[in-house]
Amino acid sequence: MLKTHSLIEPQDLSVEEIEELFTLADDIKNRPGLYINACEGKLMGTLFYEPSTRTRLSFASAMNRLGGRVVGFSDPGSSSVTKGETVADTARMLSAYADIIVMRHPYEGAPKVASLYSDIPVINAGDGGHNHPTQTLTDLYTMHTVFGRTSDLTVAICGDLKFGRTVHSLIQAMSRYENVRFILISPEELRVPRYLRQFMKDNKVDFTEVEKIEDAIADCDVLYMTRIQRERFSDESEYERLKDFYVLDGEKMKLARENMIVMHPLPRVKEISREVDYDPRARYFRQARYGMFIRMALILKLLEVGYQPKQTRLTPTKYHCKNPRCICNLENEPQQMMEIAPNEYRCLYCDYTVHIEE
Ligand code: NCD
Repeated sequence: MLKTHSLIEPQDLSVEEIEELFTLADDIKNRPGLYINACEGKLMGTLFYEPSTRTRLSFASAMNRLGGRVVGFSDPGSSSVTKGETVADTARMLSAYADIIVMRHPYEGAPKVASLYSDIPVINAGDGGHNHPTQTLTDLYTMHTVFGRTSDLTVAICGDLKFGRTVHSLIQAMSRYENVRFILISPEELRVPRYLRQFMKDNKVDFTEVEKIEDAIADCDVLYMTRIQRERFSDESEYERLKDFYVLDGEKMKLARENMIVMHPLPRVKEISREVDYDPRARYFRQARYGMFIRMALILKLLEVGYQPKQTRLTPTKYHCKNPRCICNLENEPQQMMEIAPNEYRCLYCDYTVHIEE
């Protein structure tokens, strides 16, 4: 049985639990007939406050293939959100109907809030520019399938490392494996957030930061490409300036190893040119399929944990989160700034850190 009730951030699952999910996902992939009624009578509520194709369809396909059913919305305009209902109330309400919640939200920390009030497991399907732990399970499961391991790998991650939530979750999850090295490829403006750089330093993770694909491509086992996250830019001209910063094409692929792989959480815009799709090292479309199997495994394991009544009443902390995209500021949730080092405080919902001198 999993220790956690919900999957909100990658560290909610231990390395051993992720290994168990791989084993279950392998079995589901090899013997799908055994699982067609595994979730019979169970209901998944999908709350998508932000656009999604892959993730929503992948969860719905996963639940349907397990014999369960799905309710929910993909357009918050059609729900009580427009009447001003909070995430906390929506989560409480859905707990009364469904058995498991899958939530995507543009505000950071929203699924965390839902998990604090929901009696049923909550899965974070992406919260703003913060985390996307089931994409990380997909990414890890892809590496496990291709290489037979998730350790001893050099992983180059390219693109929008500032706003890319899949990047943030992947780095945190992979930092726990032996001998993993990151080469972070981004323009100066889109480097990883401060809390993540600190996380890597604290955990003695081997990482370097470079600006060009050519500086990393010959050295890596995985080249993880990402889209520049247009919807997170406050200044459209800044996006226009950076949007075509990276293009992985056939010429650059010539520099890469024979046995490396190219991954991408998708959707891709122009950062991988179409000719690369036909290179056997391109794995991004198969990666999406692995995502369905690992989500099936996750749903099964979280449903085993099941219903747990919640009576959350948090005492607000003295300091406030300064992140304008944090759910606690949008919906007036009790502030939860935890002291992580002298004068350094981190928000429990969104990980944003502030330095406060009195
Ligand atoms: C990613 C996301 O939503 O963060 N997509 C996905 O879930 N596969 C990546 C992206 O949108 O760029």
